[in-house]
Amino acid sequence: MDTWIRDLPKAELHIHIEGSLEPELMFAIAQRNQIALPYPSAVAVRDAYQFSNLQSFLDIYYAGAGVLLHEQDFYDMTWAYLERCAAQNIRHTEIFFDPQTHTDRGVPFATVINGIYQALVDGKQLGVSSQLICSFLRHLSAESAMATLEQAMPFQDWLVGVGLDSSEMGHPPVKFQAVFDRARAEGFLTVAHAGEEGPPEYIWQALELLKVSRIDHGVRCLEDPKLVAYLAERQIPLTVCPLSNVKLCVFDDMATHNLKQLLAAGLCVTVNSDDPAYFGGYLAENFQAIRDHLALTVTEMHQLSRNGFQAAFLSPEAKATLLAEVDRFMATAGRAIGNLS
Ligand code: HPA
Ligand code: ZN
Repeated sequence: MDTWIRDLPKAELHIHIEGSLEPELMFAIAQRNQIALPYPSAVAVRDAYQFSNLQSFLDIYYAGAGVLLHEQDFYDMTWAYLERCAAQNIRHTEIFFDPQTHTDRGVPFATVINGIYQALVDGKQLGVSSQLICSFLRHLSAESAMATLEQAMPFQDWLVGVGLDSSEMGHPPVKFQAVFDRARAEGFLTVAHAGEEGPPEYIWQALELLKVSRIDHGVRCLEDPKLVAYLAERQIPLTVCPLSNVKLCVFDDMATHNLKQLLAAGLCVTVNSDDPAYFGGYLAENFQAIRDHLALTVTEMHQLSRNGFQAAFLSPEAKATLLAEVDRFMATAGRAIGNLS
């Protein structure tokens, strides 16, 4: 990995914390909770990470999250991710968690959020600021999402917004219109996965019905020129996840990913890891992969780093401070490396 990519100040806006659970930690937690895993070793788990689409991943991802029972488990998983952030100079991260994956197994909402939140508080010592987003599983009912929103209400001070993830096809945003209306009325910001596997119509619904501040993924927007114009004019951020898109066969390989076209269309593109333990890398590996395979210029890389902070749910003052940090870094790195172009 290029050290300047590792050290570039970065923001991450699309990471499912359950997707940061590395096989080694999954095994350690399974052992202390006396849960049997259907694999003999962490290596065997990693070998099983071959996916043909989103659903083939989700089946394994939900099974992996089944080892998480106690506050300490959620703390350890989140802390391990924050240590990775610190090592890659991720200065700010906005983390999704999927409460229903746990409450449906009998793990209380409070257990999940207490463990994650305590790690986020401690993470400030690592120089990583954070926000938390409560995400609803769209393959479950709107009633289940509404009940989850109710469970989240006592913890609203710890949450910046709500999101929508899991199996996209057949579960359009309109299914959750009433839940998102209620969430916004309670003061939550909203985001939604749309246009990962689903059509541009799902992105329109997320914008017009769920009134989202950002689109998670959104790579299929290029199929609809009116949608591209709408997103570009309003600078509605897309949280693009390059390694995820290749692993889940949204694109055949990194060389055919459309990130460079999205940037060229004037969109506010951000780079993210999605589920780093499953997709072969954290945020820096995603930046490295697009630099290597899409021939991104240093100017484009600088823009992508800036976009992450610009699109974050941070105060104008915090954004300005972090953007100045990015610009200072690029001015220095450019001189030191010399041959960057
Ligand atoms: N898409 C939808 N749901 C998810 C994803 C994703 O990429 N990762 C974790 N849950
Ligand atoms: Zn995602």
